[in-house]
Amino acid sequence: MHNPVMVREVLDTLSPQARETYIDATFGAGGYSRAILEKAKCSVVALDRDPEALERAEALKAHYPDRFTFFPGRFSDMTTLLPPLDYDGIVFDLGVSSPQIDDAERGFSFRHEGPLDMRMEKQGLSAADVVNTFEEKEIARILWVYGEERRSRAIARAIVEKRKEALFTTTTQLADLVRSIVGFERVGFDPATRTFQALRLYVNEELSELEEGLKASEDLLKEGGRLVVVSFHSLEDRIVKTFLKEKSGALPHPSRYLPELPQAQAIFVLKNKKPLTPQEDELRSNPRARSARLRCAIRRAK
Ligand SMILES: C[S@@+](CC[C@H](N)C(=O)[O-])C[C@H]1O[C@@H](n2cnc3c(N)ncnc32)[C@H](O)[C@@H]1O
Repeated sequence: MHNPVMVREVLDTLSPQARETYIDATFGAGGYSRAILEKAKCSVVALDRDPEALERAEALKAHYPDRFTFFPGRFSDMTTLLPPLDYDGIVFDLGVSSPQIDDAERGFSFRHEGPLDMRMEKQGLSAADVVNTFEEKEIARILWVYGEERRSRAIARAIVEKRKEALFTTTTQLADLVRSIVGFERVGFDPATRTFQALRLYVNEELSELEEGLKASEDLLKEGGRLVVVSFHSLEDRIVKTFLKEKSGALPHPSRYLPELPQAQAIFVLKNKKPLTPQEDELRSNPRARSARLRCAIRRAK
């Protein structure tokens, strides 16, 4: 059974009310959409870029035919994909879903042998295309920028050497190579983690998607609307934190000779200065929650 991460905190901050309408920007296995619909007699408009989410969305639609609607697509396109309403809240739960990570055929996990794929949309450039065809320097850059992998150059060199013998086709081929370069780091941490994160973020353009999705939320939320974002690693959280600080007037102006953004022009009010993190009981029962961070802000008057 899929376990949605920080669902209690999502409900507290989103605060669903009867007759209001919320966007679940990352439907996944539908855990948040279902919890919001159960909490109040409200409506949920959900989207997901993974074609496999559609079937799960249809199952939820059968329970809530009048209050739930699903749109396949990317959240960077929300303003054109979704009905032009003033929404009361938007929630993003970033990264991959349990069904994606648990299905070896999707190629997201270094724990299961599967094709080296990682494409959420099941089309376009795959992780295998990157490691088999990109120049060594570009592979190193991707591992450094999207994985903060300190051994990025050594791994890229080894990948390019290895592919001269045979191209990479499986997750385990790549994971084993990376492990042999990086070596043991600490108990419970797989040294292939950063490389797999980097390829996944790159192949799915996840960081630019996040920037565009956050910008879209500015237009879609009504005054008083809640923006809730759950992220899973520092690259994502940094983007959310900087966006919210900038839009709430909390970030110092880039030049001290220019005036600061007046509070009256601020678009969001921060709900918490520090991100919320999962409670002890959740950490014990759901290891996926370990690195989760929740940030929330309220839309000011338009
Ligand atoms: C962590 S899961 C969400 C889990 C969900 N909250 C639940 O309770 O089941 C993230 C989902 O977001 C989707 N996703 C990631 N980036 C997206 C994007 N740019 N646009 C739309 N969906 C995206 C993924 O396909 C995945 O299904």
